[in-house]
Amino acid sequence: MAKRRSSHWYGKLDKDGFIHRSWMKNQGFPDHAFDGRPVIGICNSWSELTPCNHGLRTLAEGVKRGVWEAGGFPVEFPVMSLGETQMKPTAMLFRNLMAMDVEESIRAYGLDGVVLLGGCDKTTPAQLMGAASVNLPAIVVSSGPMLNGKYRGGDIGSGTDVWKFSEAVRAGEMTLKDFMAAEAGMSRSAGVCMTMGTASTMASLVEAMGLALPTNAALPAVDARRMALAHLTGKRIVEMVEEDLKPSDILTKTAFENAILANAAVGGSTNAVVHLLALAGRVGVDLTLKDFEIGGEIPLLVNCMPSGKYLMEDFCYAGGMPVVLRELAGQLRAAKTVLGGDISAYGDGAECCNRDVIHAFDAPVKPAAGLRVLRGNLAPNGAIVKPSAATDALLEHEGPAHVFENIEDLKANIDRDDLPVTAETILVLKGCGPKGYPGMPEVGNMPIPARLVKEGVRDMVRVSDARMSGTAYGTVILHVSPEAQAGGPLALVQTGDRIRVSAAEGTLDLLVGDEELARRRAAWAPDAPQYARGYAKLYVDHVMQAHEGADLDFLRGADPRIPWRESH
Ligand code: FES
Repeated sequence: MAKRRSSHWYGKLDKDGFIHRSWMKNQGFPDHAFDGRPVIGICNSWSELTPCNHGLRTLAEGVKRGVWEAGGFPVEFPVMSLGETQMKPTAMLFRNLMAMDVEESIRAYGLDGVVLLGGCDKTTPAQLMGAASVNLPAIVVSSGPMLNGKYRGGDIGSGTDVWKFSEAVRAGEMTLKDFMAAEAGMSRSAGVCMTMGTASTMASLVEAMGLALPTNAALPAVDARRMALAHLTGKRIVEMVEEDLKPSDILTKTAFENAILANAAVGGSTNAVVHLLALAGRVGVDLTLKDFEIGGEIPLLVNCMPSGKYLMEDFCYAGGMPVVLRELAGQLRAAKTVLGGDISAYGDGAECCNRDVIHAFDAPVKPAAGLRVLRGNLAPNGAIVKPSAATDALLEHEGPAHVFENIEDLKANIDRDDLPVTAETILVLKGCGPKGYPGMPEVGNMPIPARLVKEGVRDMVRVSDARMSGTAYGTVILHVSPEAQAGGPLALVQTGDRIRVSAAEGTLDLLVGDEELARRRAAWAPDAPQYARGYAKLYVDHVMQAHEGADLDFLRGADPRIPWRESH
């Protein structure tokens, strides 16, 4: 058998081995911890500044129990954490930085395998991207969702109801006192957003890709069964090291296709697109926006906010992802999982306990609900829209544009009484792509102008190079590529131009003649760079466009080297 990677740290009977073992022994580890057993890193994104991940310290203890039980040696280490609701300008700016931290931490230490503890939106993709680039055996345990939010005897959901309450306050239909009461009842336990936002989407896709044990996505953070899952995961990673089962064995093209199918079925976040594209880039899988079209005809099966009415706790009690995977059995592609078998085994025998929460494939919440990819002269490299969260009638629409040149313009003017907009207007926001507002913030679901809210308008077509929160809803066209700051046609749109969108045809067009567009382009220049130094400059200089996953160009591909030189 080939020597374990960790033996180069802990297996040598010389000065080097002495140093590696002796300093670790200051934590009270006995000699037999260094007897050649698999060393399992527990990559923990716990942080009090990432409230969604604050339960991960407890789960790490569960993982350790399992690793010891299986004959491994668990060592927990911290990595950068990304608190979605707390970081400015946006947590997405730092996804690639966290991925670098994860990658280099795994590579630099004497580990044989790794358990990834993440949850909040960007922490899961960052950990996967980093671990995939090193390609040591790896498995995920997610934070799990918070318990259902409660307000006035009813359920409320993270994010989704915040947008609704905020609009109600702006329309004068909700008092500030009630608004504050809802705030207190929404987040009442450890865990991630309990809607099908980006965090639960990514946890669901992780399960659908076979990167975690079954039931990982939906068990509430505070459910004792999640602790048991952590324990079982600790046991399994030791076996994965013995079997040399690596991310590259699991992250095949078919696994990504399964993630796209599952994302449609759960009504998952638009953010999954940039994360899957970036992850594919790390493992050399040729995934493009076009591949997402396979999700277009998949029906919405999970009736959770923002596309439906229930929450993750309900999804768990109805049976969670195993039921979804069973319903998708006729669609799923063959793909290996962390258990070594095929993904179809995850759904075997799963029973649905509530058909209003998880619908059958032939009696869905909504037919053909997967993300639509749009292309046209306004988005030559693509844009996306989420039909399950949109107003059907607006998915085929032509109207005049009202342009906001940047986020400051939007904030200053959206609620002006004399804003010249109607319900037919298409709101356009520029300057919020990966380079324009570094990190591509979740502002694409622009607020409906206050004047229209008061008239009862609750949805309009909105177009931007931004992202939107996975908990948001509306007829929102996102990730327009190339972005305005990179000179995409979005930069040339002016108020009054007509725009036509057709989700059925997959088109997004600016109805302005080529000559006029050429005249505008000749007069256009990008905004001056906002960052002269540091990570933000590195990011802006190297970030790729949304249709490529917004990873840094020099991070594509894997590098499984062991980081020492012969002389060391
Ligand atoms: Fe962390 Fe939603 S803000 S999961």
